[in-house]
Amino acid sequence: MSRKKIAAANWKMNTTVEEGVALYDALNSQTLDQGTDVVICVPATHLYAIAQKNEGKSIHLGAQNFYPAEKGAFTGELSPAMLQSVGVSHVIIGHSERRQYFSESNTFLAEKLKMALSKNLTPIFCCGEALEIRKAGDQEAFVLNQLTESFADFSDEDLSQIVIAYEPIWAIGTGETASPVQAQEMHLAIRNFLKKRCSEAIGEKIPILYGGSVKPANAKEIFGQPDVDGGLVGGASLDAESFAQIVNSFS
Ligand code: PGA
Repeated sequence: MSRKKIAAANWKMNTTVEEGVALYDALNSQTLDQGTDVVICVPATHLYAIAQKNEGKSIHLGAQNFYPAEKGAFTGELSPAMLQSVGVSHVIIGHSERRQYFSESNTFLAEKLKMALSKNLTPIFCCGEALEIRKAGDQEAFVLNQLTESFADFSDEDLSQIVIAYEPIWAIGTGETASPVQAQEMHLAIRNFLKKRCSEAIGEKIPILYGGSVKPANAKEIFGQPDVDGGLVGGASLDAESFAQIVNSFS
């Protein structure tokens, strides 16, 4: 079975609205391989303006965060309905920066996952180990435990709707990339976990993206690994030409 190929941009806390709209326009003027699903996760302040321009386009709009409640007294937070009202179809859940700086636990992430799925938002669920864990050789156990804890209460059908992103923390924004072999090893471990947890067919279907210093120069080799279905791209997505090259890196 061939899986979806996905290139997802994570602009993080970068660009003003004006700069973000210019970046969106620049990306739109690039030739993007129609066989790749392109998702851009932009700052929440940019969504409305970009959604206006994105009508009828094939680029999917993603949000970097949301709060798992319908509405109410959650000062500063955004609900799924708010995001959907500005055209959001994808949400990042469990990024290591949210886990680290905002103390988002596996249990809280499970709540976000439940809410996203119930609203038909496609979750891009991130996992990944810190450098000490890799140095100790415990990376697989650690990552599979993140997934086990957050996925505990979900049906196979629920899990079949998600996208996973493996992002080793030591490779995020550092210029240090996991080698294609290291990426493939972890992606295969995650896929085998999914096959056991759900079914052979669902494990085969769920796209697993790699994230961590993906650039035009390394994307082709990483995406060429059998269990790597694309990338979640930070730094290199802030340049339209670089991101377009990454989108076009599937052979
Ligand atoms: P990076 O970020 O590409 O800048 O390493 C990836 C991410 O954190 O999603």
